[in-house]
Amino acid sequence: MAQLTVVKRDGTSEQFDAPDGYTVMEAIRDQGIDELLAICGGCCSCATCHVFVDDAYFGKLPAMKGDEDDLLDSSEHRGPTSRLSCQIPIGPELDGMTVTIAPED
Ligand code: FES
Repeated sequence: MAQLTVVKRDGTSEQFDAPDGYTVMEAIRDQGIDELLAICGGCCSCATCHVFVDDAYFGKLPAMKGDEDDLLDSSEHRGPTSRLSCQIPIGPELDGMTVTIAPED
């Protein structure tokens, strides 16, 4: 389990516990934050689950695969700590992480 803080597009944030075995995308959706569209359901083909990850946690994430990298390249909002939240598994090492939902492309 990890406690996540999610900053929404209006600047407000929500903090909640995310269970192991979920992805960050699934945890955000289960929290009822529906501005993270996640249209493809997590199969890494839509990029609508784009988030910016805390600098302090970015290095703890699993390495980015080529398809995620290509999808992020299609976003005009890509930044140095951009990830697709459906590609980030929850684990105790992420406890305390903040992610910010990226602007809509
Ligand atoms: S939900 Fe579609 S790429 Fe993450």
